[in-house]
Amino acid sequence: MSSQAAENPWKNLGKNIWHSVFRNPLPASDLGRASTSFSNFFLHIHPVKVHRHSLKATYTFGLGVMAAVLFLILTVTGVLLMFYYVPSTAQAYDRMLDLRGTVAFGIFLRNMHRWSAHAMVAVVFLHMCRVFLTGAYKPPREFNWVIGVLLLLVTLFLSFTGYLLPWDQLAFWAITVGTSIAGYAPLVGKDVRYLLLGDTTVGQEALLRFYVLHVAVLPIVLTLLATIHFWRIRKDGGLARPPEEDALPDGASTPGTVAVVSAPPVVMATSAAAAATARPLLEKRYGIQGLVRGPITKVGSIPDRSKFSWPSLFQAELVVFVITVAAILVVSLFFNAPLEEPVNVMHPPNPAKAPWYFLGLQEMVSYSAFWGGVGIPTVEVLILLLVPYLDRKQAGVGRWFAKERLLANSLFMTFAVINVILIIIGTFFRGANWEFVSPW
Ligand code: HEM
Repeated sequence: MSSQAAENPWKNLGKNIWHSVFRNPLPASDLGRASTSFSNFFLHIHPVKVHRHSLKATYTFGLGVMAAVLFLILTVTGVLLMFYYVPSTAQAYDRMLDLRGTVAFGIFLRNMHRWSAHAMVAVVFLHMCRVFLTGAYKPPREFNWVIGVLLLLVTLFLSFTGYLLPWDQLAFWAITVGTSIAGYAPLVGKDVRYLLLGDTTVGQEALLRFYVLHVAVLPIVLTLLATIHFWRIRKDGGLARPPEEDALPDGASTPGTVAVVSAPPVVMATSAAAAATARPLLEKRYGIQGLVRGPITKVGSIPDRSKFSWPSLFQAELVVFVITVAAILVVSLFFNAPLEEPVNVMHPPNPAKAPWYFLGLQEMVSYSAFWGGVGIPTVEVLILLLVPYLDRKQAGVGRWFAKERLLANSLFMTFAVINVILIIIGTFFRGANWEFVSPW
């Protein structure tokens, strides 16, 4: 603090408080932009620079960020819902009615939570499709793909455990069907079901277990996995991109002989305060790219086709954030989350359906309990986990539907489309006794 400010602390109070939080002015220079990303707690999860290819809206469609935003909405609305909810079979349903009738904005809160949960399942699935169809799971990103598969499973399980909590007919019978599918596993099936329900049927013990899994265990696991996922994106050199994106300009033959096209190598001030004064060249500097793997690290030997995260990446993320939140708000305004009659264990609806994302499984179970409920899903997950270790050729990486990847993409599309068709059949074309019905 300067001696002048010490003499009269009131004079610059507002300014001093502002600068104690926001250490850097709005960046006007490259050094300032780099320093802003580097010194801000919330921003430093990002690299200082990102490749232009990763910023193309039509490359990622912002789906990964959208999944993260939906998880954020779910966490905030979920914590607020916890103030009202009681995981007891005697009270849970009444608490749902309270949310609808007496709690200010209660129904809106519940709608937001419910629709975000459904959206997250769909968005995570679409994100996985985008990663596959652009070949972005190949080395060095194999392990991040594996983390992604785990994220998909945790997302499904999070949504599934939340389904029971309203304790209405829909919840009770959907979970009864869902957990009976788990029971078809040979040898361990019955034990897994018992472990999940804490009993032989869905009741108070199951409600408590699902609640604890839903509000504590699974969100913590998902946060941990997502943190590793984001960290790995950095360590793997940013998003995958085609080699031509880092190709030398025409006429240049060997790396090392070409001048950097745009800016000089990114330099990083050793202290944020020093950077804020935007002195052009400080005595002690680090070429930060040297710490990261991938072609972008070779300062001076490749064209610099990167952009500063501040503002390019943050703007893109802000757009995805605003669109996602706006969409959830609008949907929650016009459509109410379903709430059926309170649980009646004597009157199963016909048909009793699992949540929509498990209806593909339920459809397969109608043909073979073991293969539909356990065998095929297990094989699918194993194949998903192994894919990046089996398919390692780099051709076509970073491009949508690359012709070099025709076979892999066709197989994956077949897998994805079959799953979607099974879900559509289970949702719209199955009626009483799981007979085929026409929705029209
Ligand atoms: C909670 C779920 C998830 C979140 C929040 C998440 C988030 C993200 C984000 C923000 C990115 C970077 C930009 C983008 O692609 O939009 C990303 C990239 C990636 N994700 Fe996910 N993801 C999730 C699930 C998955 C799943 C299910 C998979 C695959 C099975 C996966 C595999 C990958 C891979 C391999 C990358 C690097 C892609 C590249 O280099 O182009 N993620 N993820």
